[in-house]
Amino acid sequence: MNAQAPIPLILDCDPGHDDVFAIWLAAGHPAIDLRAITTVGGNGRLAHTTYNARVVTSLAGITDVPISPGAPGPLVRALSPAERIHGANALGGPELPPPDVAADPRPAIELIRDTVDAADDVTIVATGPLTNIAMFARIYPDRMSKIREIVWMGGSTARGNVTPYAEFNSWCDPEAASIVLGSGPPFTMIGLNVTHQALVTQEVIAGIGAIGNKTAAFGVELLDFFNSTYETDQGMPEAPLHDPIAVALVAEAATVTTVRARLDIELHGTETAGATSVDLIGKLMREPNANVATGMDVERFWRLVEDAIRTLA
Ligand code: BDR
Ligand code: CA
Repeated sequence: MNAQAPIPLILDCDPGHDDVFAIWLAAGHPAIDLRAITTVGGNGRLAHTTYNARVVTSLAGITDVPISPGAPGPLVRALSPAERIHGANALGGPELPPPDVAADPRPAIELIRDTVDAADDVTIVATGPLTNIAMFARIYPDRMSKIREIVWMGGSTARGNVTPYAEFNSWCDPEAASIVLGSGPPFTMIGLNVTHQALVTQEVIAGIGAIGNKTAAFGVELLDFFNSTYETDQGMPEAPLHDPIAVALVAEAATVTTVRARLDIELHGTETAGATSVDLIGKLMREPNANVATGMDVERFWRLVEDAIRTLA
């Protein structure tokens, strides 16, 4: 099945409950060679998102992947962490065991540069605001042609979750999203229109709990907290587990359906900043510039998540 060499991957994230599952899926799926984790201010302040990445890799036994902190906040806007969803430390719920992996001394854009230089055709999955990737594109434009694809959890073909029209990662740093979209590599957007299908039902929690390892037990605590805040803040007692869907697309492309479409990020709207304009019917007569997710195989996705966790500590 996975006869081809695993895909070298950089995961840029802001853990964050669902980012944690993206990390675990990337580390535990045989089709992916997770080469680097970079963190960004988003769901929480950078100190928290970086610490959280170290905690959840350590406890899962992922000790050979460098983790570097990147941008503390958006390119031009102020950071407003998603505390109501993720808690004050961006990973509310379980007690966090002290990590035994240290942060890499290189800043994120240097770790990205070194990783891109060390392997042909690196894929970047980004599950937070695109600040780090935009900075990388601006500082190392010559390296962009070496990137196979950028897959981003963000945006929506429909409505938003942080404002009526904007999804959190896009709203947090729309300028960065716009820069990355035009930076050269193929760009895939997996938005709320799809991620809201991957709901954390009680059956999903029971399935993960039944795995029986330390990672799964910690994951269940994360999911319980995530469901409770989604219920309070979004009126959804079953939270959507957005971020690992971007990893699932890279690991097994058939998990997510995409179409070519024109994508633009709203930068100037008074009420709509960060909204993603997706021209699904070609109305604007502009060249499509992105792959946009329109559907997913939910059962297959949860199977991938479970299988990955099973391989961890
Ligand atoms: C996105 O925002 C964050 O809260 C989640 O981690 C996910 O990346 C969903 O809008
Ligand atoms: Ca995220």
